[in-house]
Amino acid sequence: MSAAMLELRHISKTFNPGTINEKRALCGVDLVLEEGDFVTVIGGNGAGKSTVLNAIAGVWPVDEGSILVGGIDVTGLPDYKRAALIGRVFQDPMTGTAATMQIEENLALAARRGKRRGLRWGVTRAEREEYRERLRILELGLEERMTAKVGLLSGGQRQALTLLMATLRKPKLLLLDEHTAALDPKTAEKVLNATEKVVGQEHLTTLMITHNMRDAIHHGNRLIMMNEGKIALDIRGEEKKNLTVEDLLHKFSVATEEEFSNDQALLSR
Ligand SMILES: Nc1ncnc2c1ncn2[C@@H]1O[C@H](COP(=O)(O)OP(=O)(O)O)[C@@H](O)[C@H]1O
Ligand SMILES: [Mg+2]
Repeated sequence: MSAAMLELRHISKTFNPGTINEKRALCGVDLVLEEGDFVTVIGGNGAGKSTVLNAIAGVWPVDEGSILVGGIDVTGLPDYKRAALIGRVFQDPMTGTAATMQIEENLALAARRGKRRGLRWGVTRAEREEYRERLRILELGLEERMTAKVGLLSGGQRQALTLLMATLRKPKLLLLDEHTAALDPKTAEKVLNATEKVVGQEHLTTLMITHNMRDAIHHGNRLIMMNEGKIALDIRGEEKKNLTVEDLLHKFSVATEEEFSNDQALLSR
């Protein structure tokens, strides 16, 4: 059975309206994601990628249009009410985990988010076993270090842990905003592989922003390229599988009648 897990119906957002800083960041974006879709999102600086994710998460209300997550209209809901449906991982490895707490305590907190019971009775043996299994998927050896303080971990390990925490309660939607951009290339690849595994195993519907075209091509079943607050390209299926960076640049210039500018070239190949 296939069902729409995310529906954006013509959403628009203008920041600082009526001022000299007015910025139309989203211009009527339409997007439907089916259950299990793993969509990579690229586009130049300021194209509106993070704004799409913030709109979905409910950081502020959109000006027009509606947003459905797992069939639920969340357009009027504040972010904390949407949080039960959505997992997020950001760029900075220092956010998303609590440095002074253990790995297993961080996972337990994520598992109990929004529930009354805190960590008062500690982590149960059953929970510990579940976390061990999940950590094993990452292939970073963290399952052997469950009582280590998170502050001792590397940036990549912390991002991988944040990813597990964001997906522990199987969200309807996983939003990743350049979650490997702050890591060195080798570590970034490890975290991307871990992402691939977690997303695949849990069959998570995912939007992953990256500034790396190669990563955008190699991961996921669908690729979206944004430009000036709109979706300029939406590539899937066989076309996505056979895509090269050159194809992508060519398709972009055809779709937007623009060459890739210097600013957009910040996207790395
Ligand atoms: N909270 C905000 N207040 C004002 N302007 C914003 C805000 N968030 C984003 N913008 C502007 O909207 C545009 C799109 O930004 P963003 O979605 O962050 O781009 P990116 O594709 O690089 O993630 C940019 O011009 C940015 O400066
Ligand atoms: Mg961004």
